[in-house]
Amino acid sequence: MPFTLTSNPELTIHCSRRQFSSIWTSRVSFVKCSSLPKRASLLMRSLLVGFTLIVMAITAPMMAAQKVELSVDAAKTGAKMDRNIFGQFAEHLGHGIYEGIWVGPDSTIPNTRGIRNDVVAALRALKVPNVRWPGGCFADDYHWRNGIGPLNQRAATLNPNWGGVIEPNTFGTSEFMDFLGQIGSDAYVSVNVGSGTPQEAAEWLEYMTAAQSTTLAKERTTNGHPAAYKVSYLGIGNESWDCGGNMTPDYYVSQMKIYSRFVRNFNPEQQDKHQMLKIAVGPGGGEPRWTEWTEAVMKAYQQHTWSWDINGLSMHNYTVGHWPPSYTSTGFGETEYSQILKFTLEMDGLISKHAAIMDKYDPDKKVALVVDEWGGWYAPLPGSNPGFLVQQNSLRDAILAALNLNIFARHADRVRGANIAQMINVLQAMIITDNEKMVLTPTYYVFKMYVPFQDATFVPVAFDAGTYTHGNVTLPRVDAIAAKDANGKLWLEITNLDPNQPVEIEANLAGITAKSAAGETLTAPTVDSVNTFDTPNTVLPKPVSANVQGGKLSLKVEPKSVTVVSVEQ
Ligand code: AHR
Repeated sequence: MPFTLTSNPELTIHCSRRQFSSIWTSRVSFVKCSSLPKRASLLMRSLLVGFTLIVMAITAPMMAAQKVELSVDAAKTGAKMDRNIFGQFAEHLGHGIYEGIWVGPDSTIPNTRGIRNDVVAALRALKVPNVRWPGGCFADDYHWRNGIGPLNQRAATLNPNWGGVIEPNTFGTSEFMDFLGQIGSDAYVSVNVGSGTPQEAAEWLEYMTAAQSTTLAKERTTNGHPAAYKVSYLGIGNESWDCGGNMTPDYYVSQMKIYSRFVRNFNPEQQDKHQMLKIAVGPGGGEPRWTEWTEAVMKAYQQHTWSWDINGLSMHNYTVGHWPPSYTSTGFGETEYSQILKFTLEMDGLISKHAAIMDKYDPDKKVALVVDEWGGWYAPLPGSNPGFLVQQNSLRDAILAALNLNIFARHADRVRGANIAQMINVLQAMIITDNEKMVLTPTYYVFKMYVPFQDATFVPVAFDAGTYTHGNVTLPRVDAIAAKDANGKLWLEITNLDPNQPVEIEANLAGITAKSAAGETLTAPTVDSVNTFDTPNTVLPKPVSANVQGGKLSLKVEPKSVTVVSVEQ
């Protein structure tokens, strides 16, 4: 059957279906239908030229970069973007600790006191503000005494939460503190509320923080560390509504008060300005069981007396899609890309929901919302131990990370901490290792690009994001945040969610005299592009510069990209 390109019978062109489709796939190519007589062929050729031009005219606006205007008034500032929103989480789970951090002093993998040097060097560049440890669900099974003293005398226990493997306890308190010292980070220690006791947790804190020569402090000295450690954050249990003991809100609240009262930090340097902040277990979703939980904890906080206090409420929210995790972390297309991004944007509503409850009981926002587990959680990689939560990390994760960090930034008045799950080899990791090999993930590069936003002051950005639609998913085309660092320099982040089209950004910059702008952009050939040990540079930031003239910054951002620029005055 011939294909009719026009309703005018005189202008009917006879081409096969295959030839017709070649017009669409190669918009400037001419189609020659060789079976036609020469005159008809000439006529057809000129008609095709015309037709092609019309098609080009119609589609040109769609193929050209979309324009998005941003308005940034650097004179208007908001809350501080607490550096702790860039926190990390390292649990005794799979190869997160063992192999990912700890290889032991006798390993052939280059290490310092058993901690691998390549990982430390990579993490130093991220200026990791704090590391949450030892769990997760593992925390409520952890007994700290198993993890102190000579390595060869440590108890071998089991890790029933994560694969039932042997936990050698060779990475314990002093190894964790050594690791923090090497990467330049602070301790966020989650104590065991589920299967432990207040006494056990109190003694652990005394062991770590007492400067006076108590028996526990002397034991620490015997184990090689005379100086008191600092513990900046104390997690009072983990998911106590589930793996942490299936507690009711009221039961947890009574435990929380006891732990808050008796688990003391004795470090002399943490008695005044740098006091340890206590984080209570908070919600794991938006359903009534979790709004009731937030209500119960915050109501208790409102009525708290001199004898106990909390400074933060934890929140866990993973981007899973469906439970159990079934989205794959490799080999996916635009459908899965857009769906996962849609799920991840639900973080904003969840924060708003719990922040509104917190506002009722704590209008001065003294209690921080700490999203201390977040990230993409996908199906385990085929062939991996399902209890080890092994997944790849793609460009999609980089975009997911940027969107979440931007959400935290916009809630900076309440969200003053967050810990991506997890640091190495587990879930949405910064780093993947395999014995001596190491590769940095797309998420790693986003955290690196965002370093200037640590402790920067949020600057509101107004924009009409436009939309990007794929199938039945519609997302904002772009996202953007701005902030001023301690030196007054303005930083701008722009995420282009659309995997197919670039965006022309035109930012009106008020409140500063901008001269130039430059930075880095992160993108890759496909939404599922990953870095592997053999091809570690597939998703790598590259330099980008913007045009700045008359208070306007113009920058074309590539499809599916994360861009950070600083503005020179
Ligand atoms: O990060 C993996 C697990 O997810 C944590 O151990 C737990 O707290 C959460 O359910």
